[in-house]
Amino acid sequence: MERTLVIIKPDAVRRKLIGRIIQRIEDKGLEIIAMKMLKLSREEAEEFYKEHIGKEFYESLVNFMSSGRIVAMVVEGENAISVIRKLIGKTDPYEADPGTIRGDFALKLPENVIHASDSKASAEREIKFFFKEL
Ligand code: CMP
Repeated sequence: MERTLVIIKPDAVRRKLIGRIIQRIEDKGLEIIAMKMLKLSREEAEEFYKEHIGKEFYESLVNFMSSGRIVAMVVEGENAISVIRKLIGKTDPYEADPGTIRGDFALKLPENVIHASDSKASAEREIKFFFKEL
């Protein structure tokens, strides 16, 4: 069993897509074992995305991720990290295939609706970031 961190981003919360996104995760057979709604401060968003410091989109990413409420969740299942990455589609919604969450619900970066950890190491760090108790 593997665990991964998923975030429903501020654009999706504003657009009332929470229910439909959770439905897709559960339909796939994955289990949500922890979940919370919160608003990241600017400093928290900077810390969460620190691996992107220096990239040209960093400022707009931090602004976006601290612009409204998000839903953070821990998702568990067989190969959960790669299964969720397939389910959400490519980072750029323009490149994401129809049928994926980003392909179906997002139009342009950085507003790509959902985040999921990209490796075991980032899953561990990101789960700790939001759910110290796990
Ligand atoms: P995420 O999977 O959360 O990882 C980093 C985020 O940065 C990504 O989703 C997008 O929201 C954003 N991002 C990545 N590349 C770009 C880009 N070229 N322009 C704007 N935003 C980007």
